[in-house]
Amino acid sequence: MRYITFALAKGRLARTTLSYLEQIGITCEEMKDPDTRKLIFTNEKLKLRFFLAKAGDVPTYVEYGAADIGVVGKDTLLEEGRDNIYEMLDLGFGKCRMCVCGPAEARDILQRNEIIRVASKYPNIAKNYFQTKKNQTVEIIKLNGSVELAPIVDLSDVIVDIVETGTTLKENGLEVLEEICPLSCRMVVNKVSLKMEQDRILNIVKELKTLLYEQ
Ligand code: PRP
Repeated sequence: MRYITFALAKGRLARTTLSYLEQIGITCEEMKDPDTRKLIFTNEKLKLRFFLAKAGDVPTYVEYGAADIGVVGKDTLLEEGRDNIYEMLDLGFGKCRMCVCGPAEARDILQRNEIIRVASKYPNIAKNYFQTKKNQTVEIIKLNGSVELAPIVDLSDVIVDIVETGTTLKENGLEVLEEICPLSCRMVVNKVSLKMEQDRILNIVKELKTLLYEQ
C-alpha cells in the first residue's frame, strides 16, 4: 500500500484538522511532540504521512502531487488559483469573510468609477473582484501583513482583507465597505491521487463529512 500524504496549513487550521482526523481514527502521535524539529510525520499502520507548510505553499504541494491531500483556507485557494486540484470538502471551521474595507468616507469613491488604490495580501482576489466583477480599474499594492495600516497612512484608499471578528477594523477606525465572499477551511485533493487512491481518499472525506455535518 502506498502512503497518502497530507499537507496541512501551519497553525490553527492544522491543529483543528488534526483533532478532527483523530476523531475519525487517524492519529499521528509523533506530530504531538512540541519540541520536535521533524518536518514530516508518519503513521505506519495506516500508511499516512503528514507535513505542515505555509498556507500559500499547500496548493503547490497538492498541484504537483507531492501531497495527495491539502487542508487550507479558501482565501489561499482563490489567491493561488491552482489547476489539477479538486476542492473536496468544506471543513466548516476557520469561517471568515473576504471584504473590501476602509474608512467610512471611502464608500463614495467605491461608487465613482475612478482609479483607486487597493492594498492587499491577496492581489489576485482584489484584481479579480474589481476588474472582472465590478469592471473598475484599480491600482493594486501588494502587502504582506497588517494591511489595515495602508488606508490609515494614505498608502491606499481601501484594502481587500480577511475579516473574522471585525476587531482589527474597529480598533483602527475602519469598516467593511463591500463583502467579496465567505471563506472557510477546505480539503483539496490532487486529481491523479484521487484516481489512484479513490477508495481510501473518498473514505476519509466521507468520514469527515459524517463527523462534521451528520452528528
Ligand atoms: C488577519 C487579517 C486581519 C485580521 C482580521 O490578520 O488580515 O488583519 O486577521 O481578524 P479580526 O476581524 O478578527 O480582527 P492576521 O492575524 O493573519 O495577521 P496579518 O495582519 O499579519 O495578516
